[in-house]
Amino acid sequence: EDLESLETRPPVVTIMGHVDHGKTSLLDFIRKSKVAASEAGGITQGIGAYKVSVMVDGAKQSCVFLDTPGHEAFTAMRARGAQVTDVAVIVVAADDGVKPQTQEAIAHARAASVPIVVAINKIDKEGAERERVMQELSGIGLMPEDWGGDVPMIPVSALKGENVDSLLETIMLVAEFQELKANPNRSAKGTVIESCLDKTKGVLATLLVQNGTLRKGDVVLCGEAYGKIRALLDDTGTRVETAGPSTAVQVFGLSSVPIAGEMFEVLDSLEAAREQAEICAETSRLARLAAQAA
Ligand code: GTP
Ligand code: NA
Ligand code: MG
Repeated sequence: EDLESLETRPPVVTIMGHVDHGKTSLLDFIRKSKVAASEAGGITQGIGAYKVSVMVDGAKQSCVFLDTPGHEAFTAMRARGAQVTDVAVIVVAADDGVKPQTQEAIAHARAASVPIVVAINKIDKEGAERERVMQELSGIGLMPEDWGGDVPMIPVSALKGENVDSLLETIMLVAEFQELKANPNRSAKGTVIESCLDKTKGVLATLLVQNGTLRKGDVVLCGEAYGKIRALLDDTGTRVETAGPSTAVQVFGLSSVPIAGEMFEVLDSLEAAREQAEICAETSRLARLAAQAA
């Protein structure tokens, strides 16, 4: 990429951790919303992507948060989460400690070389043991900054909002250190975050634009799915014409449901996209046959 065309882009921060440790609640407090309370069974089903304004040294900066489910069935989703992410926030409930999905989330972040910030959550609760959590984490190789290591571990209460400002400051500091850049003036590239087939609306996909700008009318290719983007909705459900670097948008107009985690790109023509999609479909058909034969 031409260095001169690069501009600073907002960080993409993924919130990961064991089920019910408070990931959605933390994001709810940050966004001043109440998603956790409205979720079926209190369990996050998909990945939510939200752009948030954060004050850093008196200046407003934006940051994109990805909420991920903590349930084991979502291992693959979390694995992807770490690949689109600039900073991984690992939420650990102080009354429950390090659990299998905590360890798994840490492993994913490490495998992707993504810096980790730990949020030691639920410190308002009786039985919350911050020191024990730090002990457990250092036992699996995450050394707290307070103990001379390099992993910031911020005690918070997502429920009461206690110390969340200092968690945000830490996240933005870690992100700033990475000097994140993108070129808003090229065609869009990024990752499919979520997708589904809606009974009335047809194929829906949430795309995270990681470079370039996605526009209404663009022809998008993601694996076996392709199509001309008929509409883009931002994280508040508002129609937008464009989506720049580090923006998640829901798009309409794809031919079929793309696989979450798949990369997408913009092509010049629908014919070219169809051709590429067919090649991709044929390649995976052959791969499936080969796997069956083996
Ligand atoms: P999954 O998406 O299902 O993995 O859960 P999650 O990590 O998003 O947790 P969620 O935000 O749904 O919170 C789980 C429960 O913990 C809810 O009942 C929250 O109200 C509660 N909770 C979250 N944060 C806190 C906190 O800081 N203090 C207390 N006391 N309860 C909290
Ligand atoms: Na939950
Ligand atoms: Mg959740």
